[in-house]
Amino acid sequence: MAQINPSILSADFARLGEEARAVEGADWLHVDVMDNHFVPNLTLGLPVVESLRKSTDTPLDCHLMIEDPDRWAPQYAEAGAGSVTFHAEAAAAPVRLAREIRRQGARAAVALKPATPVEPYEDLLPEFDMVLIMTVEPGFGGQAFLDIMLPKIRRTRRLIDRHGLPLWLQVDGGVSAATIERCAEAGADVFVAGSAVYGAEDPAGAVRALRERAERAAASRATAG
Ligand code: DX5
Ligand code: ZN
Repeated sequence: MAQINPSILSADFARLGEEARAVEGADWLHVDVMDNHFVPNLTLGLPVVESLRKSTDTPLDCHLMIEDPDRWAPQYAEAGAGSVTFHAEAAAAPVRLAREIRRQGARAAVALKPATPVEPYEDLLPEFDMVLIMTVEPGFGGQAFLDIMLPKIRRTRRLIDRHGLPLWLQVDGGVSAATIERCAEAGADVFVAGSAVYGAEDPAGAVRALRERAERAAASRATAG
C-alpha cells in the first residue's frame, strides 16, 4: 500500500490547522523541522508540532533537518509525533537515538542526504521503522527531483528485502505526478509531496491522484518481480 505524506512546508504557515485538515485522507502529515544550521532554512519547532497534533487526526511524520538530533528528537516523539526522522549525517549515536524515539512510542526513521550512501547503515536497519532517501538536497520545497537517486532507492529496497525487514522506504523531494511512478518502481512505498499537493487547486484530490499512480507503478513492479 502506497502512503502519501503531504509536506506542510508548502502550506500557508499562518493557517496550518486548516491546511492540515485540507489533506485529510492523507496517511501522514509531513512536518519539516529546519534549524538554519543543518540546512540553510528555518521553519518550526516543538510548540508548532504540539499545536498541530491537537488540530488534526492525521498522524505527524516529523522530518528533523537539525543539528544535534540526539538531544532534540526524543522530544518530538514525546510531543506526540507518530514518526520521528533524524538525519544520519547529524546523529552522534543513531542506534541509541532510534531506541530512545521508539521508547517514547514513536516510529524511528533515519534520513540520508543525496551524497550519503545507504550501505554503511545495513547492519543498523533493524533499529529503524523507516529509511528516508532524500531525492533533493534538503532545505527547500519545490526543487527538481534528482533522478540520480533512483539507484540508491533500488539498493535500499534490495537491502530491506534481503534482510526480510518490515521497514518502510520513504522518498522526499520533487515527488509529483511526473516522478512518483519512478520512485514506486524503484521500491519506495512512502511518498512525501509538498508543492505537488499544496500547489494543487484541490490538495485532497492531489493526494488521491498521487496514491493511484504510486499503486499502479508498485503493482507493475510486483508483476515484473
Ligand atoms: C525538503 C523537505 C521536503 C519538502 C518537499 O528539504 O524535506 O519535505 O517539503 O517539497 P517538494 O515536494 O515541493 O519537493
Ligand atoms: Zn521533508
